[in-house]
Amino acid sequence: MKFFIDTASLKEIQEAQDLGVLDGVTTNPSLMAKEGIGGDQNVKDHYKAICKIVDGDVSAEVISTDYEGMIREGEELVKLSDQIVVKIPMIRDGVKAIRYFSERGIKTNCTLVFSAGQALLAAKAGATYVSPFIGRLDDVSTDGLILIEDIRTIYDNYGYETQILAASVRHSMHILSCAKLGADVMTGPLSAILSLLNHPLTDIGLAKFLADHAKVNK
Ligand code: G3P
Repeated sequence: MKFFIDTASLKEIQEAQDLGVLDGVTTNPSLMAKEGIGGDQNVKDHYKAICKIVDGDVSAEVISTDYEGMIREGEELVKLSDQIVVKIPMIRDGVKAIRYFSERGIKTNCTLVFSAGQALLAAKAGATYVSPFIGRLDDVSTDGLILIEDIRTIYDNYGYETQILAASVRHSMHILSCAKLGADVMTGPLSAILSLLNHPLTDIGLAKFLADHAKVNK
């Protein structure tokens, strides 16, 4: 399973990279705004800075909602680095734009996916990644993991190569459940990745090892 970090914070991206388990980065306009990144050139410079920290794919989201605008923005974004994946919302013009980019060998991430039907359309359009938002489904009392399971079944039935990028991941159980269900990638905050480390028996065991070592090494 690939681990992407879902943030525009260079500090957190560097921390995840230093841990040695990072495969890529996803961003969105809200995450860029949270870091105070605005203005065309600042946004582009920020994506370049992210690409310098990680080796893998970096999703950069278009702001336009019309076909021509998405193509124009996406073509500008991919000039920044060959790591850039054009992130496109699941709307009618978005599906057309995904087809356009996929025919030209440009990677895409279809975002804001909340149903298996949307995921099927994204795969048919040739998306590299599809991003079902599991946390936001959980927020409205709908089991986001069932969506991951359904998409896995559909993609396997027909051999679609679109990778399932479980997004809006909030905690370690989301990551584990997505791994069990066969999501190809998960993207979440640094806190969710780090929470995989935690087990009280590890802490208790390490404290005892160190205490025993200290007894005979005074
Ligand atoms: O990758 C999608 C993600 O940014 C949404 O996460 O926590 O805002 O629902 P969240």
